[in-house]
Amino acid sequence: MSRTVIRGGTVITAADELLADVLIDGEQVVGLALPGSSLSGSFTADTVLDATGKYVIPGGVDAHTHMEMPFGGTFASDTFETGTRAAAWGGTTTIIDFPIQTVGGCLREGLDAWHAKAEGNCAIDYGFHMILSDVTDSSLKEMEALVGEGVTSFKLFMAYPGVFYSDDGRILRAMQKAGDVGGLIMIHTENGIAIDVLVEQALARGHTDPRYHGDVRHALLEAEATHRAIQLARVAGAPLYVVHLSATEALAEIAHARELGVNAFAETCPQYLFLSTDDLARPGFEGAKYVCSTPLRPVEHQAALWRGLRNDDLSVVSTDHCPFCFKGQKEMGIGDFSKIPNGLPGVETRMDLLHQAVVEGHIGRRRWIELACATPARMFGMYPRKGTIAPGSDADVVIYDPAARRTLSATTHHMAVDYSPYEGKETVGRAETVLSRGRVIVDRGEYLGSAGHGRFVPRGTCQYLR
Ligand code: URP
Ligand code: ZN
Ligand code: ZN
Repeated sequence: MSRTVIRGGTVITAADELLADVLIDGEQVVGLALPGSSLSGSFTADTVLDATGKYVIPGGVDAHTHMEMPFGGTFASDTFETGTRAAAWGGTTTIIDFPIQTVGGCLREGLDAWHAKAEGNCAIDYGFHMILSDVTDSSLKEMEALVGEGVTSFKLFMAYPGVFYSDDGRILRAMQKAGDVGGLIMIHTENGIAIDVLVEQALARGHTDPRYHGDVRHALLEAEATHRAIQLARVAGAPLYVVHLSATEALAEIAHARELGVNAFAETCPQYLFLSTDDLARPGFEGAKYVCSTPLRPVEHQAALWRGLRNDDLSVVSTDHCPFCFKGQKEMGIGDFSKIPNGLPGVETRMDLLHQAVVEGHIGRRRWIELACATPARMFGMYPRKGTIAPGSDADVVIYDPAARRTLSATTHHMAVDYSPYEGKETVGRAETVLSRGRVIVDRGEYLGSAGHGRFVPRGTCQYLR
């Protein structure tokens, strides 16, 4: 077993910031010691990595990705191979992706299909949440078996009628089952039935441009669905995790529920913090690059989201990475915004955009790690194996240069998508060296990983329930 010591860096976890040397033996962290201490002197290793002047942080945990997702008449353009490699470049060492139950199909089929896509192809470790598209007696029964296999969370959709949509009765039944078997229900909270009426009306008026995607997916329809999901979860006595929250009004629903002591949690994504309806309204068909659901909101919503991230009404920042190329994929919606495949790339840029938030003073450094590493790991039952640097943790460690300056661009990113939503944006900070389970997979601009290094992570239950 090879041993690595990372010397001289500032170790930042959700709990601490301290100058420390980190000893890795094989795939695990085995010790931390003050530099110059006798303990540190005893850290002998085959490889010494110098982190002087750098941060030493846990690898990022991105709890919401869609590699190769079939959606909107096409497939998300990143495979597990390209998407996890891009994640590694950006300092993320664990993703949780979403197998899909097809309507009329069983959970097992969907899960097996995702295992087959991921196994042997991933650069970093991965887990799965299960998408429930067809809540039946038999799929409810299957939930318990999946929890036993480490697939402990289930996503349902109040949006996308005719595709993934579940009505309130089905959602309630899935929540009741999750409450019984220790699962966590994740919900896409938009009122899809009402949205479809507004889509039809907009198109009938000749409103076909991408910016109308933002208008029809009204903030109040996100808030209404969020409110309904919370009440259903309360009735079921089950915890709730709201995905990709973007609207101030929806956040108010979460905040109110949390004040009441409800086990309601929510994530937001970098696109809602750094992009807005101004991007959706870019001239020509450029706005299609910014079509995702929930949609980007007017810029005023961002202040509320930052506040939510500071006060923990928003507990996690995930990416909802679901890339579609502009050429040939987003273009499917020329002349009809409702045919633009929904989704944005982001798995590679999340850690840096959140560090940029530190630089700009929105959050502190420990909160950066909490939102991007520790809380997603705890929320989805992987902590302390993932999300921190402590004896016994997987050695998923990033040496992060907080002073590196860069310009985000499709010409330099590693995601398999032909545009960057952040083209030209200047950021400070960059993953310099990335270790996944003790192996260096990225080092100063060189990719050293391999497809198949990443393993499936069976997860435990949510570690936040009161
Ligand atoms: O636009 C999005 N979010 N696409 C991915 C599917 C989903 O709803 O998460
Ligand atoms: Zn969604
Ligand atoms: Zn998603």
